[in-house]
Amino acid sequence: MTSSFDPSPSPTHFGFRKVPAEEKVRWVRNHFDTVARKYDLMNTLLSFGIHYLWKRAAVNLLRLQPGDSLLDVCGGTGDLSVLALKRMKRTGKVVLVDINRKMMESGRRKSTHAHLREKIFYVQGDAECLSFGSGRFDAAMVGFGIRNLTHMEEGFKEMHRVLKPGGRFICLEFSSPTSPLFRRLYDFYSFHIMPLLGLLLAGSRQAYTYLPESIRLFPSPGELTRLLEGIGFRQVNYRPLTNGIAVVHWGFKNDGYQKGPSPF
Ligand SMILES: C[S@@+](CC[C@H](N)C(=O)[O-])C[C@H]1O[C@@H](n2cnc3c(N)ncnc32)[C@H](O)[C@@H]1O
Repeated sequence: MTSSFDPSPSPTHFGFRKVPAEEKVRWVRNHFDTVARKYDLMNTLLSFGIHYLWKRAAVNLLRLQPGDSLLDVCGGTGDLSVLALKRMKRTGKVVLVDINRKMMESGRRKSTHAHLREKIFYVQGDAECLSFGSGRFDAAMVGFGIRNLTHMEEGFKEMHRVLKPGGRFICLEFSSPTSPLFRRLYDFYSFHIMPLLGLLLAGSRQAYTYLPESIRLFPSPGELTRLLEGIGFRQVNYRPLTNGIAVVHWGFKNDGYQKGPSPF
């Protein structure tokens, strides 16, 4: 699979638009300010509800245990955090970090799973510079967020830093379908239908043009695997979901020795 992934930091991209690296975070914040109120509804409509299945599959791969401490990076409205708390039988600690206050507020106000949402610790902050000490979390996850960072590697390095030795990690992101026919249909849907639905249902064509553009610029699964290994994650692997529309990567922070078989 080919991609136009460019590891050079500056200038960078906001969708297909080239922007100075120091300005990208402002573009991203404005984007999520625009979509925050209808974010969950639009996700469900545009993905025909499939994003819930992807999120469930990704959280299952973390093999969470009751009492675990978990970091949800770019957690937004908290879908992944809620699923994780269910897996941990409400006993663990989930910290959600997001740069955008409106996204977190939108999630906190949701009535579905309110009893779980009230257990989430919300922290407003930048994934590239986490405010937690090293080695604090049993597990860390990022869902559909890492592609928005100005320096994606910094976000991964930070997740690696805050994990305990042996800690588990997942990254769920959009990718490209593996079947050429499906890819053509998906391209048509995402570049033509999605922005139109964005305009009609959420009042912004631009916001839903950014989505497919940013997906096309994201590294291929193989490239992302090498990036994660280079950062220090071990036993990195990935699984395409729905013919590769989404891909979940997982790995561990090395603890120096192997405690038996991989849980994955
Ligand atoms: C597409 S949403 C994903 C939300 C949630 N993880 C989900 O799966 O539904 C991406 C989120 O990343 C957040 N984000 C973007 N850049 C960020 C950064 N540098 N640091 C922290 N959060 C960021 C956005 O505010 C947004 O809430």
